[in-house]
Amino acid sequence: MADERDDRPRRRRIVLCMGATCNISGRAEPFYECLRAAFGDPGPAFMARGPVSWEVASCLDMCDEGPNLTLYPGGDAVHVLTVERLQEIIEQIKAEIGDP
Ligand code: FES
Repeated sequence: MADERDDRPRRRRIVLCMGATCNISGRAEPFYECLRAAFGDPGPAFMARGPVSWEVASCLDMCDEGPNLTLYPGGDAVHVLTVERLQEIIEQIKAEIGDP
C-alpha cells in the first residue's frame, strides 16, 4: 500500500530583512508591501491566526547577499531578492497552504 502522507508544510513563516543593508535606499520596501498585500500585517508567529505568518528582521547576518528573506520551516534563505522572485514565493506558498 502506498504511503499517502502529505508532507507539505501546514504552516509557513516568512522573515523579511529590513535592515540597513537589505533596505538601503528603500529597496526592501516593495517586498514589505507585497507581503502585506498577500498575508496582511506582519506579526510574530505566535500571534498568527492563519497558516502563514510573516515578520520583519533588522538583520539576518548575511548582509552581503541581500536583500534577504528566510522561509520556515526549513530556514531556507533567499538572497538578492526581487519583487518577481517574491511573487513566485508567495504564489508557491499559497498553492501549498491554500490562499489564506
Ligand atoms: S541587513 Fe539584511 S542581512 Fe543584514
